Amino acid sequence: MRDLSVDHLLGIKQITAADIQLIFETADSFKQVINRPIKKVPTLRDITIANMFFENSTRTRLSFELAEKRLSADVVNFSAASSSVKKGETLVDTVNNILAMKVDMVVMRHPNPGAHVFLAKHIDAKIVNAGDGTHEHPTQALLDSFSIRERLGGLEGKKVVIVGDIKHSRVALSNIYALKKQGAEVMVCGPTTLIPKYIAELGVKVEHNLKKALQWCDVANMLRIQLERQEIKYFPSIREYTMQYGLTKPMLDNLDKEIVVMHPGPINRGVEITSEVADSGHSIILDQVENGVAVRMAVIYLLAGKINRG
Ligand code: CP
Repeated sequence: MRDLSVDHLLGIKQITAADIQLIFETADSFKQVINRPIKKVPTLRDITIANMFFENSTRTRLSFELAEKRLSADVVNFSAASSSVKKGETLVDTVNNILAMKVDMVVMRHPNPGAHVFLAKHIDAKIVNAGDGTHEHPTQALLDSFSIRERLGGLEGKKVVIVGDIKHSRVALSNIYALKKQGAEVMVCGPTTLIPKYIAELGVKVEHNLKKALQWCDVANMLRIQLERQEIKYFPSIREYTMQYGLTKPMLDNLDKEIVVMHPGPINRGVEITSEVADSGHSIILDQVENGVAVRMAVIYLLAGKINRG
């Protein structure tokens, strides 16, 4: 049986193109499962998973919980807002207390980049990164690539532009790693102030003109402006940002080709993308959400296969 090269999913940087391929082939099977009248398999009946969210989430948290339940795992949920973290408990103490209740896998979202690497060194459970600050969001990148593969038949040679707040986006970094590993060409597009200087070293093109970026690409992945992470002003106003980088239907109609439009959510309608585009035939935003469950089932299933159940 083929196996992942890693024991934890800490980031896309740590996994190989063969790992991504294995996750996608496994997710293909699980996508069939979640579209059957009985959407559940008994595969992980003896596994307990803790979802630990130290930051807000709608999609990722619900998607992981559904994925775990579709695999028949036992699931416990933890939210920092209502926990003893507020009383000064450390991350390792919090997680060790949960593990003492015989938890096999921890899915964690944490504001600190690298928190998952730290945890994987200190506790004896499989760790899945559900987003670490501005660093990585590996399952989002996997479901994004899976959705492009589904729509366009593969990633090799495809041109993908990631538009917006690249500087504060964990989705952008994980997508760059994932797309490059699968042979796609990647461009980032946004205001100079929101594109980190190191980005070209990752082998991506940089473009500041959205119309030129759209002419170049097969896929546009529109990101949200992360005002909650911006300690200073990076552009004069939201209105000005939208005029320069907001995607509208007339812009798509003026292209001499069809492009695919993506968004990881949450969407700020009327800021980075109009409702007309988000709800159009170009958009695969809801496919991304559906595929998220199948891809997360695949990740959990493959990591659970590495748990020593002896
Ligand atoms: N795409 C994403 O991570 O959304 P949430 O923050 O709602 O989980």
